[in-house]
Amino acid sequence: MVRIDTLSSHDGEEVKLQGWLYNKRGKGKLLFLLLRDGSGICQCVVAKNSVSEEDFEAAKALTQESSVEICGTVKLDERAPGGSELKVSSLQVGQIAVDYPITPKKHGPGFLMDHRHLWLRSKRQMALMRLRHRIQQSFRNYLDGEGFFCVDSPIFTPNACEGTSTLFETKYFDQMAYLTQSGQLYAEASAMALGRVYCFGPTFRAEKSKTRRHLTEFWMLEPEIAYADLDQVCDLAEGMLRHTIRQLLSHHRGDLEDLERDPELLASWDREFPRLTYDETADMLMAWQAEGKYESQFRPGDDLGAPDETMLGEHFGCPVMVTHWPAAVKAFYMKQDGHGRALGVDIIAPTAGEIVGGAVREDDHDVLLQRIQEHELPIEAFQWYLDLRKYGSVPHGGFGIGLERTVSWLSGVEHVRECIPFPRTIGRLSP
Ligand code: 4AD
Ligand code: MG
Repeated sequence: MVRIDTLSSHDGEEVKLQGWLYNKRGKGKLLFLLLRDGSGICQCVVAKNSVSEEDFEAAKALTQESSVEICGTVKLDERAPGGSELKVSSLQVGQIAVDYPITPKKHGPGFLMDHRHLWLRSKRQMALMRLRHRIQQSFRNYLDGEGFFCVDSPIFTPNACEGTSTLFETKYFDQMAYLTQSGQLYAEASAMALGRVYCFGPTFRAEKSKTRRHLTEFWMLEPEIAYADLDQVCDLAEGMLRHTIRQLLSHHRGDLEDLERDPELLASWDREFPRLTYDETADMLMAWQAEGKYESQFRPGDDLGAPDETMLGEHFGCPVMVTHWPAAVKAFYMKQDGHGRALGVDIIAPTAGEIVGGAVREDDHDVLLQRIQEHELPIEAFQWYLDLRKYGSVPHGGFGIGLERTVSWLSGVEHVRECIPFPRTIGRLSP
């Protein structure tokens, strides 16, 4: 058995493909079967005089999404989608699919989401899932190459990390637990053991937001570096994203084409990302509002909202890093600069908005204790976290990157619900 994406190295050979019928065209004695196997789509040409009569009839009877194994000779052909086609010698039908619900005609998003288990077989969705795979692989490969160790964080946790308002509670034997909002606190502990680490796993937010950027369950990769300052955190995120862009450009031209995504646009982002402070950003946003360039409730001191992020993306046309935030809008663990600014960084990407949130962490025991108290967090649950500041505390920092928002940004598919195989949102728990 050979996978479709490797056909170009099998020119002239007799091979067997295993997959599903994507589409079919026919002209009397000639049938064109589009077979998909997950790695690509191949045109298989069935000539009446090259196969048995039985096989020709079986090919004619194939319906969309029927499973079928096809044998034939590979022929390189620049005009064929994927660069090669198969001259069929025989085929074996697995199962004829009857009344496959997703037809090439247009369906609404609700219908498609209800049929997500089948919708994944569509061309754009397959392309998206392959991009998602490559993006996470690139994240990991980049970090592995920089000497990071993957040390995963738990999903059941006893405490909040990113604010108590978005916690999912669950019964845990005779006590309550929360689904993790971020593996960061544990990544910090791991970084104090191994120096450079990352965790990567599902993350949960009971967000009441019904936007195209919010999921209740999403995947976050979180690197953490001991002995790091804010510049190092920013450099790492930029290096990782640029590496990822290059990987997509070298391995996924076909998928980008299926998604109608211009590779030149991606290539244009393989550059240094502008770095601005929050105050500089706020000045620009206020000036744009005054000029009537966009409308927003934003006032200096506020967190950025969706329209502000969108405006920044449009203005710069590339990801921007916003640093030195008002401490009041950021999490309790962020180190401050002595002027009421938190040493945090958000990366705002065109159309997708915030894709990265990171910071230098408060490393002083007493200051951190005070922050925990100010935020009215339960001290007992954070005792172990405070310990990290008692035994060889060092400056350190890291960031979290949302996988789905990154997929959304790079693919140009604006709704994050399409950027994860089975999305969980405020209104959806199935399939
Ligand atoms: O900015 P956030 O909340 O940062 C943290 O959780 C830090 N503890 C990370 C760290 O420093 N280790 O979330 C980080 C990223 C966001 O920038 C966004 O990409 C993604 O996680 N994210 C979401 N993605 C989809 N749906 C949601 N509801 C998301 N909330 C955050
Ligand atoms: Mg954030």
